[in-house]
This record gives sequence, C-alpha cells and structure tokens, in this order.
Amino acid sequence: MQLDINFVRNQFSQLDDDPNFVFCSNAGGSYVSNQVQAVMEHYNRHTRVQPYERYRTSAEAGKAMDRAIHGWANVLNITPAELTIAPSTSINTYVMANAIGYSLKSGDEIIVTNQDHEANSGVWRRKAEERGIVCKEWRVDPLSGLLDTESLYELVTENTKWVFFTHCSNIVGTSNPVQTITSEIKKRSNAKVFVDAVAYAPHHISDLKALDVDGYVFSLYKVFGPHQSLMYVKKETHEELTPQCHYFNHGYSDKLLNPAGPQHSQVASCAGVLDYFDDLYDHHFDDGTLSASQKMGELYALISQHEDTLGAPLLDYLSNSKKVRLIGKAHTKDQDRAPTIAFAPIEQSASQVATKMQDQGIGTESGDFYAHRLISDLGINPNDGVVRISLVHYGTDQDVEKILLALDQALN
Ligand SMILES: Cc1ncc(COP(=O)(O)O)c(C=O)c1O
Repeated sequence: MQLDINFVRNQFSQLDDDPNFVFCSNAGGSYVSNQVQAVMEHYNRHTRVQPYERYRTSAEAGKAMDRAIHGWANVLNITPAELTIAPSTSINTYVMANAIGYSLKSGDEIIVTNQDHEANSGVWRRKAEERGIVCKEWRVDPLSGLLDTESLYELVTENTKWVFFTHCSNIVGTSNPVQTITSEIKKRSNAKVFVDAVAYAPHHISDLKALDVDGYVFSLYKVFGPHQSLMYVKKETHEELTPQCHYFNHGYSDKLLNPAGPQHSQVASCAGVLDYFDDLYDHHFDDGTLSASQKMGELYALISQHEDTLGAPLLDYLSNSKKVRLIGKAHTKDQDRAPTIAFAPIEQSASQVATKMQDQGIGTESGDFYAHRLISDLGINPNDGVVRISLVHYGTDQDVEKILLALDQALN
C-alpha cells in the first residue's frame, strides 16, 4: 500500500495557494491541516469564553480542550496528568529546568549533548552551573554529526541524575535509538531520561510508555497543528519536582509545570491534528480495533515509506556532489533518516545558496537553526550555518525534482 498523496494534499489548503512553490522548510514549522483550522475556527466563533463552567458555551469550551488533552494522552499512551501543554518547547524545557533545579545536589551529574537544539541544552547546562553540579557532554562525531551510543554509556555513573538528548537532530536528521539508549542508561544507573522529539514527531509519533522515558517534548506547530508544545513528564517523577504553578494549584498534576494559564483555543485545536490523523487512517485502513498508538504505528509506517522516497534522491545528489558537505547519513536504508537534510556549501555561503534557491521558488532556509553548538562543533561557521531542506509527507516526487533542479543551478 502507498500513501494517497492526493488525499493528503487535499487536507492542507495552504498547498493550493501557489501550486508552483515548493515549501521545504517544514522543520521550522509545517503547514496546518484543515482539520486544525476547523477546530480553531469553531472554538473562536462559538465557544470563546472562560472554559469549564456549567453554562453551555463554557462547558463546550472545556469539552473541546479535554478532547485534545485526553486524545493526545491516549495516542502517546500516557495519562492526562502527565501532559503539559504550553506555547513552545523552549518554554516547556525552561520551566522543567526550574522544576528539576532544587532536586540537584552536590555530587550529582547530568548529561547533555552537543547535537541538540539549544532548547534542550542551555536550560540544563545553566541549571547545573547554578546548582554547582557536574554537566557532562555527549559529543557528536565532528565529521558526520552522529552520536555514538557507546560513548554515552561511558559517561553514565551512579551519580547521573538526568540524561537529556534528542530523538532526532533538526540538522543531522538521523534519529537516536531512544528505547535502547534509555534501557541501557537504566541498567547502569537510576538516571532519568528526557528527550526532545521536536524534529522527530513530524515523522513519527511514539508510544511513550514503550520508550520508557521520563520526559519527552515536541512542538505541534511542526506536526501540522497549532503553536503549542506537548511535554510528557512521568507521574513517578512529579514528587521530585518543584511545582511551577500558583501555590493553591500544587495538587493538580496538569498545572504542576504550567505557570501560565492555557491558551484555550490553541489547546482545543491540538485535537484537530488527531482528527487529521484519523481521517488519514480511515482513508487507508479498515481495522478499527487497533489502539490509538497502534493506529499511529500503521500510519507512520506508510508515511515513512513515502518520506524515504522523497529523501533518497536528495541524499544521493548531495552525497555525490563535490560542492557541498552533507551532514548526517547519506541514505535512508537504516530507516532512521528523516527527510530533514542539511548541507554546508563549500564554495559559497549557505545564505547565498538558500537565496538562489528561494529565487527559484523553493522555500528552503539557511542558518544555525538554534543548534549553534552542533554547527560550531562540526567546524561550520554558525553565523552562516547550513542550508536545510526539510520535507514532510505532503511533499511530492515533483517537489523533489524541482528542488534538485534549483539546487543544481544554485551550486553550479
Ligand atoms: C529539535 C528542536 N528542538 C526544540 C525546538 C524548539 O521548539 P520551540 O520553537 O517550540 O520552542 C526546535 C525548534 O525549531 C527544534 O527544531
């Protein structure tokens, strides 16, 4: 079976705006599905009042928010009390770092990487400094940008309290085997594991209980939805955390890590992403007996197959070109490579190449993408950075042909 690309594209009205334009900056933020627009519009037109009171519109507003919270908890295989919804991943990790802070004592250690986006790096490093504890760095291979798991295990000791790493770097595009890494860390220590899945979730939604992580975060505005971030923190961890909400709300797990009030219509419209996935599932499969996370598994197998066919010709071209340095794996055959493809041009700046491509109707981008440490440690000037072509499953073979043509002209 193949992904019905016409059906997919019909769910994104923005794709109709300019049929000749190729949007390939999805890792910065994807298009929003029509299902999400519908939920948001309905909320704002009909139920825009303070939610969770007894009068009709307020009760409906509360139900709309609960549909999103419960729906996502179900898909991720967690409980609603373990889910925090906030405007961005950077906010979520910032708040989480403050919540963890007081639990870190002299002699404790944490591990971070130099592969991560700064949102899953700086906040933990600063907290370690404030608490006077050791912060170790799990470092990438400076040529490929890949992380080697064995070198992580050498850093883990009985003093390790938390390990923070990325499910998939927004530059390297290759995913780290979270389930294996987590189980290996747990064999060696009592450390907890927190994973940034912002660059992974557009390509695969995970069952978090199966991964057995203690924290996991991603941004829905890159997963066809509103500008909200979902953060899972395992219930057993809550008692170690300093609540970040008003003191009289300390008893509410869902408020524990949320100092702000929720953005009601945005939270409600998170359910629209699930409506989109449901529509996509029902269009391709008939088995209604599967659990929400199993359905997601089926759907994403189809999506990955399509994404691999999009990524392969680009990786082929770039890995054979003498004009660029491709970052990350040059192939998709290990089934761990998202079509988030970054390269550093050799004879021109990244911004020159990106501009030339943009002038040909290709919506690509250049820069450090807030993975400043990674770009520097790869030996690339972070002020210029890399060119990034990032596709998701609504991309087409024709898009890839146009990208290749523009790329060839820009480089030669
Ligand atoms: C891998 C990764 N982590 C974290 C973030 C930060 O997400 P947000 O913009 O929701 O703060 C980004 C944003 O680009 C990202 O790509």
